[in-house]
Amino acid sequence: MDFFDRQWSSYRAIVEHNLMEHRQVAEATAAALEAWLGQRPADGAAPAMVDLGCGDLALLAPLLRRLPLGSYTGLDLAAVVLPLAEQALGPVPYPTHWQEGDLLAWALGNPADAPAPQRIDILHSAFAIHHLTADQKATFLKAARQRLHPDGLFVWVDVFREPGEERETYVQRYVQRIHSGWQSLTAEQQQHVINHLSSFDIPADRAEIQTTAEAAGWHWRWAWQGAHRSEAMAVLTPA
Ligand SMILES: C[S@@+](CC[C@H](N)C(=O)[O-])C[C@H]1O[C@@H](n2cnc3c(N)ncnc32)[C@H](O)[C@@H]1O
Repeated sequence: MDFFDRQWSSYRAIVEHNLMEHRQVAEATAAALEAWLGQRPADGAAPAMVDLGCGDLALLAPLLRRLPLGSYTGLDLAAVVLPLAEQALGPVPYPTHWQEGDLLAWALGNPADAPAPQRIDILHSAFAIHHLTADQKATFLKAARQRLHPDGLFVWVDVFREPGEERETYVQRYVQRIHSGWQSLTAEQQQHVINHLSSFDIPADRAEIQTTAEAAGWHWRWAWQGAHRSEAMAVLTPA
């Protein structure tokens, strides 16, 4: 197994054992998207959705199959996950686009260059944006606000720090959580996750990021909070 396969198989095990509450995330995501769809005029065009850091769609596929979308674009930095996502989704009655790319570059990019539809009604991103630095997150929020249609919806699932919590304290707390409760992963898998989060994760301070988002023109609502003061879902709409 190469580095990516090892990381990915550890992530698959996390999802399978619900260690980051992916099942609750899937339910909260369905509730947010279905509530928003329910409020739209029945005669409007079917919404175009873009999923940033889509992964293999292991959890979102059942929801995507039943949503009345106009199109779905799955974008991911890792090209290798895109065929897995396409396979997990299976046949759907709307066009799909699979795009290898960086989510920040996508937000900043020229819509005319993208294979995705130019009008975007739903943005979704789960457990991907926390890899950006604080400045990159602020840039992303401003740019994504411009990409989304004014009546659109952005569902952001991620790990976040408690208000005022240092990154180091967050990492120690998460490592402690893995050691004490993630016995369904092998010791090697636990170590992969610890290495990954210690090296790459930069979760936003939840109070600061809300202020940053509001300054970028978003209305922010916390729609779900996990049991471990880390995983959470925010629903953003253009203010
Ligand atoms: C932890 S996985 C989450 C996958 C899926 N969204 C889920 O919730 O199961 C993070 C995914 O985001 C992708 N990713 C990380 N940074 C990214 C970036 N800057 N741009 C696009 N995709 C990114 C990774 O390749 C990976 O597939």
